Amino acid sequence: MEADIPFALPFMGPEEEEAVIRVLRSGWLTTGREALALEEAFAAEAAGEAPAAALAVNSATSGLHLALEACGLGPGDLALVPSYTFTSTAEVVRYLGADPVFVDLAPGSFLMDPAALETTLERLNQGLPAYPPRPGERGQGFGPRGRPRAALPVHLGGLVCDMGALGEIARRYGLKLIEDAAHAFPLAGGLSGDAAVFSFYATKTLCTGEGGMVLCRDPELAARIRVMRSHGIDRSIWNRYTDKSASWYYEVVEPGFKYNLPDILAAIGRVQLGRAASLLRMREDIAERYNGAFRGNRHLELPPTAPGNAWHLYPLRLRLETLKIDRNGFIEALKARGIGVSVHFIPLHTMPYYKQRYGLEAGDFPETLGSYRREVSLPIWPGMSGAQLDRVIDAVLATVRESRK
Ligand SMILES: Cc1ncc(COP(=O)(O)O)c(C=O)c1O
Repeated sequence: MEADIPFALPFMGPEEEEAVIRVLRSGWLTTGREALALEEAFAAEAAGEAPAAALAVNSATSGLHLALEACGLGPGDLALVPSYTFTSTAEVVRYLGADPVFVDLAPGSFLMDPAALETTLERLNQGLPAYPPRPGERGQGFGPRGRPRAALPVHLGGLVCDMGALGEIARRYGLKLIEDAAHAFPLAGGLSGDAAVFSFYATKTLCTGEGGMVLCRDPELAARIRVMRSHGIDRSIWNRYTDKSASWYYEVVEPGFKYNLPDILAAIGRVQLGRAASLLRMREDIAERYNGAFRGNRHLELPPTAPGNAWHLYPLRLRLETLKIDRNGFIEALKARGIGVSVHFIPLHTMPYYKQRYGLEAGDFPETLGSYRREVSLPIWPGMSGAQLDRVIDAVLATVRESRK
């Protein structure tokens, strides 16, 4: 049965339609005045206490790549990432010829464990391979060795990592801290790492279909990202267009990338940014309804409570020991009732590429694996009606009732 309540749906109104038509009629479709206006507004909205530069890009993946490139990551370097994330967080490390080193979740949480990060950094600083020997094994362990240069904590589902603890560790070990904030707009507390990278993908809390934004305070980092997102050309196409004196002339200073955000999408982003407070309120209301319906149910574990959750996801965890079915069976039962759901995330260390390249086994990150096995993400999108919410809640509770031990 196809889900009649989808897992995610963008919230698009006549204002977004008008913004697109305005750009289509303007004669300028690529990166220009809309992208600049979005950057300015986004920086004012998202940076937090101190000013920061916002750089619009065509995806969070591009933004993460650019941020790490600007930090100088290269072959022989290591970047510490959670295994519990989307592949973008680790693949960008490989783009640069460096290696990702996986870090487990903090017990019971969805977020990178500062203690596990520090243990791994200690091993690497002693010249040991990233991962310790498994129980019963001898020797120094396994996995990549090299220079730890960056960490990429992921604010999963809009839950913000312990940036105080991570920032302190990053300072002590000389790491760049790049926040994967793909799920986390609005970012509670604002930017606290060297850069934060947001996604405007079709399901995200600020949605333009595809797109993203990098926030950073260091002007040198911002300057490098600005040049590299646009082929390594020293002047943006918009500056060339608006500068009457030498519009045809440019210099290529690096072999850069084509990662700019077109104005058609930036215009949608400006409308969505203006809606940010009401979009968040709608997500909070849905989360509140789910929490109210599931709290106290001994078969279900609510998402952690944290101030400033952007509620990109509602990650419910099943208490499998109380149920006759596993998480996949639970999903099938919801699907049979017409409810679209998802799983966040299939751990990267279990994916063929990472597993084979680094010799990893599923049990190497027990918190990550444990969370994956019992997680199911419920629909949470602005515009869900009360009746749709009731349907999801009823489906979850009915599935629990019929499959409890
Ligand atoms: C945690 C995380 N990081 C990065 C990305 C990449 O975002 P984009 O699709 O904008 O490249 C995603 C996408 O879903 C994500 O979930």
